[in-house]
Amino acid sequence: MSDILLELAHVHVNFPARKNWLGRVTEQVHALNGMDLQIHRGETLGIVGESGCGKSTLAQLLMGMLRPSTGDCHRTNSAGGMQMVFQDPLSSLDPRLPVWRIITEPVWVQKRSSERERRQLAENLAQQVGIRAEYLDRLPHAFSGGQRQRIAIARALSSDPDIIVLDEPTSALDISVQAQILNLLVKLQQQRNLTYVLISHNVSVVRHMSDRVAVMYLGQIVELGPARQVLSQPRHPYTQLLLDSVPRTGEPLDDSLALQKTDLPGNRHLPTGCYFRDRCPLATEGCQAPQSLQPAADGRAVRCWRKVT
Ligand SMILES: Nc1ncnc2c1ncn2[C@@H]1O[C@H](COP(=O)(O)OP(=O)(O)OP(=O)(O)O)[C@@H](O)[C@H]1O
Ligand code: SF4
Ligand SMILES: [Mg+2]
Repeated sequence: MSDILLELAHVHVNFPARKNWLGRVTEQVHALNGMDLQIHRGETLGIVGESGCGKSTLAQLLMGMLRPSTGDCHRTNSAGGMQMVFQDPLSSLDPRLPVWRIITEPVWVQKRSSERERRQLAENLAQQVGIRAEYLDRLPHAFSGGQRQRIAIARALSSDPDIIVLDEPTSALDISVQAQILNLLVKLQQQRNLTYVLISHNVSVVRHMSDRVAVMYLGQIVELGPARQVLSQPRHPYTQLLLDSVPRTGEPLDDSLALQKTDLPGNRHLPTGCYFRDRCPLATEGCQAPQSLQPAADGRAVRCWRKVT
């Protein structure tokens, strides 16, 4: 039985989109619309879906930076600390602090160690992520994008978390640098038995890194299962569309494999029935009923009555 660290049940997250002159919310953005998910120790769970489908909202929810509007999201008793790595390393690093202080900021907040111990910790972590110790007194702007992301990773590791949420960790980087950062993440995961939630709009990054993958559409998971299986033999019509929009042969980390931006139907006025109905080539009358995520015969789960068996 694998160890569950995080659990989401029937989670909805709404944001106020418009208010009237009395300050009452008259319109809402429905960012997450019934998320059920469990995250297991040691796995990399990939989250893929087009812009606006709710990936970063999910990340914030997992981190406890957001609360569900309804439903439940909690860490189980066996979960330890969590940290996050963002897409843009520069905006997530304080530009006025020397790098060694940035790296140890999470432990500084806990105030359990001396300055000398923190300096030592920064040196150890710098070595693990491939930053030279003599650079630790420099400011973040002195580093390249890839080095800054290494610093952000060291920072995430400093409090020795179990889980790291990676929100588009390599999207801002050149392709060759992307591969180096992904390899570093794999190495650190093996050394520390880390659990990753890897968010990316880049299907090839997710395929390369993930054990399981959740495909999201309009704030819901439409398909969930082993990454290789889901991304090579998609069942849900949306996953199929997603993969058809990226060339299958090509360099594994080529950015041309990034998901094309397509129009999401409004998350202010949710569709009735299957959310994918307007775009689905297989839509029929039975699709007017709301769809739930159902276990399919081959061990994955699919939100489409026509594709479950
Ligand atoms: N704080 C907020 N207030 C209002 N609306 C928000 C807020 N945060 C997110 N949204 C909306 O919720 C929806 C989901 O946004 P989210 O950032 O989670 O998408 P995403 O999948 O991360 O997109 P991207 O790939 O572009 O990063 C979007 O319509 C977005 O505009
Ligand atoms: S339920 Fe119908 S519309 Fe929705 S994905 Fe399946 S076939 Fe398409
Ligand atoms: Mg996002």
